[in-house]
Amino acid sequence: MRILVTGSDGYLGSLVAPRLSAEGHDVVGLDTGYYRHGWLCPDHMTTADGSPNPHLPQVINGDIRRIGVDALRVFDAIVHMAELSNDPLGDLIGAVTYDINHLGSVSLARLAKLAGVPRFVYMSSCSVYGVAEGTVDERSPLNPLTAYAKCKAMVERDLTSMADDNFSPTFLRNATAFGASPRMRFDIVLNNLCGLAWIEHTIAMTSDGTPWRPLVHGLDIAQAISCALRAPRESVHRLVVNVGSDDNNRTVRDIAETVADEFPGCDLSFGPPGPDQRSYRVGFDRIHTVFPDFSTKWDIAAGAAQLHRVFESIELDPETFYGRGHTRLKQIQYLLKTNQVDDRLFWRHP
Ligand SMILES: NC(=O)c1ccc[n+]([C@@H]2O[C@H](COP(=O)([O-])OP(=O)(O)OC[C@H]3O[C@@H](n4cnc5c(N)ncnc54)[C@H](O)[C@@H]3O)[C@@H](O)[C@H]2O)c1
Repeated sequence: MRILVTGSDGYLGSLVAPRLSAEGHDVVGLDTGYYRHGWLCPDHMTTADGSPNPHLPQVINGDIRRIGVDALRVFDAIVHMAELSNDPLGDLIGAVTYDINHLGSVSLARLAKLAGVPRFVYMSSCSVYGVAEGTVDERSPLNPLTAYAKCKAMVERDLTSMADDNFSPTFLRNATAFGASPRMRFDIVLNNLCGLAWIEHTIAMTSDGTPWRPLVHGLDIAQAISCALRAPRESVHRLVVNVGSDDNNRTVRDIAETVADEFPGCDLSFGPPGPDQRSYRVGFDRIHTVFPDFSTKWDIAAGAAQLHRVFESIELDPETFYGRGHTRLKQIQYLLKTNQVDDRLFWRHP
């Protein structure tokens, strides 16, 4: 299959694109490169014998809002991951979040349909469920609370209405990711706690840690994407599916304790019940029905151990952990402050 992976230079994209390439797909990336400044695991660039990794894709350096229909005609599928990827960015620049995440994504899908690309795998998020009682699944009402989550819900709605005999969108509602990636993010919960345990030897939670969070390793997300692309088209046509596992529905307290166990000497403390009582558990039955081969390979203890090994091997320092290279909000603030991007986040000097 000839596949375009947008956001191929991001935290998940830099895991997904090489995996699809290694599976024999012809993969091309598309990314505007907001976070190219951060690169954590240089060994990803080379194979064991030191030669260049043959699975790194060719990347088109561009913005999803400016791609033309002709560039898309050659593809059999698009895996769309290029968006502003968290709530703090949505809070900082809500209008741009709508511009890229909603309008940009819908426009890309329209062009893909026009270009005759039959499959479109969209990276949605469990955040569309917002605050919910008990366990939510794909049939539960949506309750998106932030600009980021609202855009995900709107893209799902708009692409669903575009589905027809020639265009099959699939919506992967991913849990919060964790684990090592060359384009590491330290602004997601497990990665952040591991970094704190390594750098500060202290995790001081400001709340009691009782809320539940669903987590999933980035490589298991890559596996789900691969399953969606391999599945018969009719079985993924307009399909919504949660990506994660029941085992990785964890309380924040449990996540912090798992991290503290992995990093001996880490001092862990909790506070009183916090004001943010967002808590939800996600049901993951459907993914096993639609993708019988899918099974998550990583639990949070294995993810924490993986990060521990990476931190040791690269001697992770405070500058890298706290710097803008691996925290999305800090890097976008820096690009705006230094006028490298305009207020719609287009590069001034492409
Ligand atoms: N990481 C998670 O926990 C998680 C969970 C659920 C869903 N998702 C979704 O998965 C996708 C990837 O997440 P991630 O963690 O890899 O994010 P990321 O921020 O690391 O990567 C996003 C990539 O998209 C690129 N990009 C952003 N806007 C662009 C534009 N207008 N044109 C071209 N490229 C653009 C960025 O340069 C970046 O390389 C996102 O859509 C995110 O919302 C992520």
